[in-house]
Amino acid sequence: MKPQILKTSALTKSFPGSNSAAPVINNLDTHFFKGEFTVIMGNSGSGKSTLLYLLSGLDKATSGKIWIDDFPVHNRTEKELALMRRQKVGFVFQDSNLVPNLTVKENILVAGRLVSKNSNQLNKRVDELLNDLGILPLANRMPGQLSGGEAQRCAMARALINDPVVIFADEPTGSLNSEASLKVMDCLDTIHSKGQSIVMVTHDLKSATYGDRILFFRDGQIVDERLRLGERGCAAEEEALFTWLKQKGW
Ligand SMILES: Nc1ncnc2c1ncn2[C@@H]1O[C@H](COP(=O)(O)OP(=O)(O)O)[C@@H](O)[C@H]1O
Ligand SMILES: [Mg+2]
Repeated sequence: MKPQILKTSALTKSFPGSNSAAPVINNLDTHFFKGEFTVIMGNSGSGKSTLLYLLSGLDKATSGKIWIDDFPVHNRTEKELALMRRQKVGFVFQDSNLVPNLTVKENILVAGRLVSKNSNQLNKRVDELLNDLGILPLANRMPGQLSGGEAQRCAMARALINDPVVIFADEPTGSLNSEASLKVMDCLDTIHSKGQSIVMVTHDLKSATYGDRILFFRDGQIVDERLRLGERGCAAEEEALFTWLKQKGW
C-alpha cells in the first residue's frame, strides 16, 4: 500500500450565520497518497474550495484533525500555520495572483527566500523549474506581459519553489482557454511524473482525466472514488468520467 501524505479525521467546517443547517464539511475521514495526483470533483457550492483551504492550513476547521506528512495541522497558532504553509504546501488558485511589479523570476525567488537563504541554490532551482514548465524564456518579463496560461505556469513554479510535500490546485484551468489549459495540465503532469503529490479541484472533464484517482464530494463527504483506467486527456476517459459523474448527480 502506498504511504499516505495527508489525512483527515472527523473533519468538520460550518460557517457561523450560514442559512444551511448542515456543515459544509461534515465529519470527513479521508486520505491522500504520496506521489498521487488526486482530483476532487463535485457540484458548485458543495465545499470543494473550503476543503482545500482546510487541508492546506489556509483556513481553520470547526472541529476534527488534519495531518500533512504526519505533521498535525489542527490546533496550530496562526504563526505556526503560516510557517507550515511555507515549508510544506504549495497552492495554485484559479487566478495566478503574481506580484505585478516583479518579474517572473523575482516572483518565484521572493517565495523561495521565505524558506531558503542560499541564493545560488535558489537561482538554480528557479531556472530548473522555469525550464520544466516551459517558461524559462519568459524569466525577465513582467506579469502584465504574460498570457493567462503563462502566468498560471509561473504561479505553479512559485508553488513548487520550496519543494512542498503537496501541491493544492483550486480550478487551476478555470479561467483559461482549452489550449492554455492543456499546457497547464501538461505541466502538472510533468511535476507529478517527478514524484510530486498533487490535490486538484476542477470541474473540467479533460483536466480531471489527468488524475490518478478522482474523488466525488457531496453533502460534506467524499461519497465515491474512481481510478483512472485509460490515457490522460483522452476522449474515452473523459466520456467514462462524465458517465460516472452523472450517476453521482453532477
Ligand atoms: N467565508 C465563508 N463564509 C460563509 N459561507 C461560506 C464561506 N466560504 C464558503 N461558504 C459557503 O460554503 C459553501 C461551499 O463553498 P465552496 O467551498 O466555495 O464551494 P465549491 O468550491 O465547491 O464551489 C457555499 O455554500 C458557500 O456559500
Ligand atoms: Mg470552489
